[in-house]
Amino acid sequence: MNVVQTVLWKLINPIAIVTARYAGNVSGFVASWITQVSFVPPLIMVAVNPLHYTYELIIKSNAFTVNILRTDQAELVDVFGKSSGRKVAKFASAAYDQRSTGSPILKDCLAFIDCNVMWTKEAGDHVLVVGSVASAAITSAGETLQETRSMYAQRTPSETRHRGINDGGA
Ligand SMILES: Cc1cc2nc3c(=O)[nH]c(=O)nc-3n(C[C@H](O)[C@H](O)[C@H](O)COP(=O)(O)O)c2cc1C
Repeated sequence: MNVVQTVLWKLINPIAIVTARYAGNVSGFVASWITQVSFVPPLIMVAVNPLHYTYELIIKSNAFTVNILRTDQAELVDVFGKSSGRKVAKFASAAYDQRSTGSPILKDCLAFIDCNVMWTKEAGDHVLVVGSVASAAITSAGETLQETRSMYAQRTPSETRHRGINDGGA
């Protein structure tokens, strides 16, 4: 890990599953580059690798949901963060619901934020996706799962994450 990555590691990031649905296809990916960017109106930003299957569904449906995980849900990182929805039915063992946008909302998570895409903008090897909040709720008690050093290792260096090799290719 180089010095820049070591310093960036000091940023504390939440872990969520960002989901989308289009034409009957559902998918989701583990995301940690998520932040609120406005109070009024409430806006959320996610940095998304455009190679991801879920990115395709977000762009086509113009919507996404941020499902915030609890500290006891780290096993979902393996399910949603290591393989592509093009090859794996990630929701096979994860029950979900939906609200107005139609994006999957995990029945078991800490909280969700259902969003309509407001705009997107390329930023390096990711795309910033800003969403306006359509609805949000806390769905269980607990604390937010945060990114750990070992999770960080899973998604770096760029050979694994940015080139989509962990997805078996773009
Ligand atoms: C801890 C962790 C955090 C991640 N954060 C992000 C992120 O913020 N943005 C992103 O585009 N990918 C992120 N990823 C990578 C995706 O979750 C992963 O490549 C996923 O398999 C893509 O799935 P999809 O192709 O089905 O959409 C992260 C992975 C892990 C393990």
